Order: sequence, then structure tokens, then C-alpha cells
Amino acid sequence: VANRTLLAPKNSPPDPKWEFPRSRLTIEQVLGEGEFGRVLRAKAQDIGGWSGQTTVAVKTLKEDASASELADLLSEYQLLKEAQHPNVIRLLGACTTSGGPIYLIIEFAEFGSLRNYLRRSRHLESEGRVPCSTLLLSSSPSNIKPLDQQCIDPIVNYTITPRDILSFAWQISKGMAYLADIKLVHRDLAARNVLLAAGKVCKISDFGLTRDVYEDDAYLKRSKGRVPVKWMAPESLADHVYTSKSDVWSFGVLLWELVTLGASPYPGVDVHNLYNLLKAGYRMEKPANCSYQLYKLMVSCWHEEAGMRPSFKELICHWERMLEDAV
Ligand code: ADE
Repeated sequence: VANRTLLAPKNSPPDPKWEFPRSRLTIEQVLGEGEFGRVLRAKAQDIGGWSGQTTVAVKTLKEDASASELADLLSEYQLLKEAQHPNVIRLLGACTTSGGPIYLIIEFAEFGSLRNYLRRSRHLESEGRVPCSTLLLSSSPSNIKPLDQQCIDPIVNYTITPRDILSFAWQISKGMAYLADIKLVHRDLAARNVLLAAGKVCKISDFGLTRDVYEDDAYLKRSKGRVPVKWMAPESLADHVYTSKSDVWSFGVLLWELVTLGASPYPGVDVHNLYNLLKAGYRMEKPANCSYQLYKLMVSCWHEEAGMRPSFKELICHWERMLEDAV
């Protein structure tokens, strides 16, 4: 019975605009795994207007996924159909016909998650220039099964400058402003859910499934799935209210992740105490290497009153000014 939920529902007709023949997809390896979801690397023949083989990422469910996880994947499919922006991960197709698992085919981001990329860049600073294999081995705890990257030129590609940090913040703000415009609330904006593609292009991803539960304790297990407490606005924690302004709060935490090169937020704080701390006015302090200008923006995203937080459009203007100053 559990296995049947993995297969495409027989009674929902495939969307001809997006349906892709299974026979033109060759699965190559596992890129990432969550509790119920899995991301695979694959080659697709003649997809998205390109002729020949294109490397793609494929989102699917694991064998023990339930009906609600299937619903999550199908809802992500519907959301991705609508989203078209250079800083939002692009849907290329889907396999939803009976006779196999459901596959969402999305563009492949060669550097994998922004969080892993940030953390990998640290090794370069502390250890000097090290070979690719060392980087890959030292960056992942052994319980993370696969690597979510290809490693082409580690020395050039994993170096991060202060300007890169501003550029990442700018690109993510642009993607989020677009999502806010089309009335899409992400609910789980975090560095682990932003992918980095060729040319250091940020792609907002993960509209709600493959959360890397192996990576850390980012999600608190609840009856209704896992909750990313340390990225959540107080009104989301207390009342389950999610808006683009609660996404702005999460973006503030993402800024903190950027500046600290992928550290885990609120170190030492028990997630069960966080809400009361936030209500009492507690906020994360300024990271050592962070400018006052950037910290001020971060803290403005954590305004207790959602309406007082900046919009993503306003944030874009700040980044553009700062990028001009940084030359
Ligand atoms: N890991 C999860 N999604 C991915 C994607 N689209 N490209 C590369 N790695 C990924």
C-alpha cells in the first residue's frame, strides 16, 4: 500500500505542457536525501528547448513516503510551473504518468546548496589551497550519503569575497521579490534551500519537500512535519501565520548565515526557548566580521511587527547601493 503512493495517481491526467517521457531520462546518482524525498542527478534527452543531453536534477519520493508527502511534491510541481525568474529554480518537466515514480525535473545547479558552498569556502581560508578531494571529504559528515556537487575548479569556484556575499543577498532578494509579486510565500527560506548555479547564480528552491534532515537539527519534529524554528518569524511560531513579511524575517536569518559562512543560527539556544527569547526582544548579535550597515538591515528584518520589516523590493535597493560602494 505504501508503495502505491509513490506511483503517479492513475486518475489525474498529465499536463501536456510539462510531461516528459520517462524513456528520455537517465538517472545517474543521488544528489541529496531528506526524510521522505530524494534528489537525483540525471541526463535528459532534448529537454527545455535544448537538443541533446542536458544534466538535470530530479525530485522524487522515497519508498516510505506517505500520501501527504506525495501531496507536497504535487503542490511543489504546481508552484514551480508558475515561477519563472533567473533567481528561482526552474522546472523543466515532469514524469507523472503511471508506470513509474513521480519525477519533477528541475534545472541542475552545479554548486549545490548555498549552505554547503559557504561552509566549503571556509576550508579554503583556514587550510590554504587544498585539492578537490580534500574539500569534499572534509566538508560532509559521514551520515550525509551523497555529495550534492560536481567539483570542477575548487580553488577558483569556492572562494568567496565580501562582494559575493552582497551579490548573493541581492540575487536572493530579487527572487523573493518576484515570488512575493506572484503571491507565493516560501515558508522555508534558508541557505540550505538556495542553490548555487554556474556563474555563482543563486536559485531559490525547495518549495517544501526535500529537507535535508541529516544535515543538522534545523527542523523540529512536529505532528505536521518538521518545523524550521530558527528561521521562523514569531507570528509563524505562535499563530502559523505565513506572509511575505515572515519570509523577510527568514531572509534576515539567511543574511546571518551568509555573513558567518553557513554557521547554524542561535548557537546554544534550545528551540523550545526561542519564541520567549524573541518576544523578550532577544536577537542574534552582530557577527564579528559584519559591517554595522549590514547588521542594521539584518535586524530590520527581525522587527517584531511584520509591517515594520522592509519589503524585498526595498532590500534590493539597499544591496544595489552597497554593491556600488563596494566597487
Ligand atoms: N540538490 C538539490 N537540488 C539540486 C539541483 N537542482 N541541482 C543540484 N543539486 C541539487
